[in-house]
Amino acid sequence: MKGLLLELSSVLHGLVAGGLSQCYADNLSFSPVLYTGPSQVQFTSCASQADGPRVFPINATTFDWWYFDAVSDDGTQALTVIFFTSSYIGFSFDLLNAVDPLNVYVFANTGSGPGISFPIAATSVTVATNGNGATGDWKGSGISFQGAPDLSTYTVTFQKTALNLGIEGTFKLKTRGPGHYVCGPLEGGQPEEVLPHIGWVNVMPAADAQVDIKILGKSLKFSGNGYHDKRLTNAVAIQNWGDVPFTSALHSWYWGHGTFGDYNIVFFDMLDPSNKEKVGGYVLKDGKVVGSTCTSGLQVRPVGTTYPPTLLTANPTQLTINMTLNDGSILDAIVTERATQIDIGLYTRWIGSIEGTVNGVTAQGSALWEQFKVQA
Ligand SMILES: *[C@@H]1O[C@H](CO)[C@@H](O)[C@H](O)[C@H]1NC(C)=O
Ligand SMILES: *[C@@H]1O[C@H](CO)[C@@H](O)[C@H](O)[C@H]1NC(C)=O
Ligand SMILES: *[C@@H]1O[C@H](CO)[C@@H](O)[C@H](O)[C@H]1NC(C)=O
Repeated sequence: MKGLLLELSSVLHGLVAGGLSQCYADNLSFSPVLYTGPSQVQFTSCASQADGPRVFPINATTFDWWYFDAVSDDGTQALTVIFFTSSYIGFSFDLLNAVDPLNVYVFANTGSGPGISFPIAATSVTVATNGNGATGDWKGSGISFQGAPDLSTYTVTFQKTALNLGIEGTFKLKTRGPGHYVCGPLEGGQPEEVLPHIGWVNVMPAADAQVDIKILGKSLKFSGNGYHDKRLTNAVAIQNWGDVPFTSALHSWYWGHGTFGDYNIVFFDMLDPSNKEKVGGYVLKDGKVVGSTCTSGLQVRPVGTTYPPTLLTANPTQLTINMTLNDGSILDAIVTERATQIDIGLYTRWIGSIEGTVNGVTAQGSALWEQFKVQA
């Protein structure tokens, strides 16, 4: 009974008294002990707290994570950092080994050799929101992020601890333009689902990135193109979920971001469980939104391999992205792999170059993209 009361009080503590029912207190603490009842899950945005938690407290079937990445201008080096208040039952990059629900997953390409990736456990987590920004401390891991209230900057800091012997240094992001929800700007009342039960908010669609870290004894220092979003799933609402519930919510998925010339693009093109295509594209030019769609006018396709991708077909080394911008002009781009960051069969993330053309002007740059394929 005492345990139940404590759990109830922790849930109530997480909600803003008298506020919108789906909004949260501005400072939440997460324990690695999974809550045994229904979590509060938010799929409609609050007036602020764009980068705030969407699941509280965490239980065995809900997943909430903060994603940061940067790729060097030449497309050969990269760092991705994902902060999870999530369950190992669901979204794990290491399908064979359980990971603590509170963890930071680090992926790096140092420019030579295969991609490096490992999780670092945290003993508890606090996330404080201020304006639209958030500051998160994955205690014990030595890894934290600090966001500005207006989302203009983020800093990820890595310190060595007993649980983190592998990575130290800093990763800084300075935004290049406004963030967005799936179909609209960062304001209250926006739907957050990209597919049923999968939420997404792209708080930093493109950023100047500075990475200066040491990882497993190797130095990784570059400037380039950064990105930050946060994602969540409520897997129990997805039918037939099993060991990897995230994947039962979709059949295939291409997602990525690239920078060429004055343009920054974020794109996704996915198939839901009924094979219905769902697309999204967002383009900044010199910090202004010049392309934005959540319904049509964008297509991502693999070059030289079958579409949709399946577990039995080869992975593409290139993707084409074709999008109609807000003024009717066409953005045509092709990304070409330079390195794999992580490949676990059903999920792959690559880095490389992008060549993009708008209104007859072609420019080169770098990109990072991922593929999910779940069907045989
Ligand atoms: C959030 O709460 C934690 C634990 O109560 C505290 O240590 C931390 O300083 C708070 N953070 C902010 C930014 O208020
Ligand atoms: C976790 O919370 C979600 C959302 O409230 C709920 O649908 C689900 O049943 C909960 N899972 C467990 C194992 O209690
Ligand atoms: C899409 O973009 C690619 C890369 O620029 C280009 O080769 C292709 O012709 C475009 N496809 C369409 C249908 O315009």
